[in-house]
Amino acid sequence: MQAQERIILALDVDSREQALALVKDLAPHVGAFKVGMQLFNSCGPKIVEEINQLGGRVFLDLKFHDIPNTVAAAGRVITRLNCFMFNVHAAGGREMMRQVVEEVEDEAKKLTVAAPLSLAVTVLTSISQEQLEEEIGVKGRKLKDLVVKWALMAKECGISGVVSSPQEIEAIRAACGPEFKIVTPGIRPAWSEKNDQKRITTPGQALQMGADFMVIGRPITQAENPVEAALRIISELEE
Ligand code: C5P
Repeated sequence: MQAQERIILALDVDSREQALALVKDLAPHVGAFKVGMQLFNSCGPKIVEEINQLGGRVFLDLKFHDIPNTVAAAGRVITRLNCFMFNVHAAGGREMMRQVVEEVEDEAKKLTVAAPLSLAVTVLTSISQEQLEEEIGVKGRKLKDLVVKWALMAKECGISGVVSSPQEIEAIRAACGPEFKIVTPGIRPAWSEKNDQKRITTPGQALQMGADFMVIGRPITQAENPVEAALRIISELEE
């Protein structure tokens, strides 16, 4: 895979205009654009098609979590949007993950398109060990062990990979093998602002630890020259 294909630019903006301006400039330099609940709920599904038309692929970061039938149906309709990746919460359980994978593959076959990669979100990185125990009720288990357990469970259900913090990449890679995709946020080149990210990893470190894709937002979008920032990250990855 080429270095630039590993970069997924987070389109954390409210409007179609802001998003498409970034896509126009950066589509030749990144692997995909992440459309999350902010942009999707502001612009609707048409934004995916518009990004595709400008030559960008889309990671639809909507983190589905519902009963299996509902999530499978959501998977079916987003396959029609022609996205590159989408995600679900592993906490939705095995049956939910199995059904959505099956439905997405069936729909892609019907449409004779490539099925989008399916990713699982394990434990959100905003959740602490204490919250896991007190609020979610998971007792006597280390957070990191739960992350690896859910990653394995996702793999067994046919899910293509996980979204994970850089801290967990190596444990997931060891447990789930070389083909399982790992997408990681919390990336900051040495030269960029940390913003609100606390435990950060450089693009080079994330790659060395075994990440396949990195979600990067502000280090590119808030740079004085976003294209230059992207090119700088690409050349760091190539080193
Ligand atoms: O601007 P920045 O590079 O911090 O953007 C990172 C993107 O990755 C944001 O869309 C953020 O919501 C997402 N993300 C994250 N940390 C996680 C999970 C997702 O920063 N643990």
